[in-house]
Amino acid sequence: MVIIKSPREIALMKEAGRVVGLVFKTLEEKIRPGMSTLDIDTIVERTMLDNQCIPAEKGYYDYPASACVSVNDTLIHGIPSKNIIIKEGDIVSVDIVASYRGYMADACRTYKVGKVSERAERIVRVTKEAFFEALKLVKIGNHIGDISHRVQEYVESNGYNVTRDYTGHGIGSHMHEDPTIPNFGKAGTGAKIEKGMALCIEPMVLEGRKDTRVLNDGWTVKSRDGKLTAHYENTVIVTESGYEIITMYEGEE
Ligand code: MF3
Ligand code: CO
Repeated sequence: MVIIKSPREIALMKEAGRVVGLVFKTLEEKIRPGMSTLDIDTIVERTMLDNQCIPAEKGYYDYPASACVSVNDTLIHGIPSKNIIIKEGDIVSVDIVASYRGYMADACRTYKVGKVSERAERIVRVTKEAFFEALKLVKIGNHIGDISHRVQEYVESNGYNVTRDYTGHGIGSHMHEDPTIPNFGKAGTGAKIEKGMALCIEPMVLEGRKDTRVLNDGWTVKSRDGKLTAHYENTVIVTESGYEIITMYEGEE
């Protein structure tokens, strides 16, 4: 069941989204070779708590940290660790959810650490572009399948694959609500897009084969073939005139 958000709920989600944006702005400045993925988690947690938000991932199905930090061939749900040190040339996705008075915003960025290869550069760019391509279809009366189809079409036409194993989703007072938003599918199918929906659109892209595997920690999702992966996500509110992205900071590209 899709839950349409009231103006009051949207205002609370926007505050959560503002803090998500602030975290990204902070990380943009601070991320560098030699840091551990746990150092990134610490920055995420401190920034959220300093801004009256709770890191909603911590404790979600017993997830042990405040951020998912996924390096190179890790697609999603990388558990931060003091033993995972990021180095020049890595691509590091940081997926976070802030909760403000019980209302949430969820987003992900893939950071390029120092100078990265052409290969890495390109998958990060295409993954972000896939989000913005699909965003053009967020309009009252369109279908969720339009978004899914466009992500798949854009990613595959650039020679990459989308995961079939994980999806985008609605969001609100729960991190994951209806509708499910796959990164693949048919235009014209699925729920109709309505005013007041809050959608997490999140292309999860693999350079090689689409297959993933989960490590023994029960969380970390990697590409099966060990090739690169990237992830980009924003929380988007459906408005009368189209959409509003609530998880970008002012001036963010
Ligand atoms: N933020 C992720 C998403 O995009 C969910 C992370 S799972 C958690 O849906 F356990 F870390 F919360
Ligand atoms: Co999400």
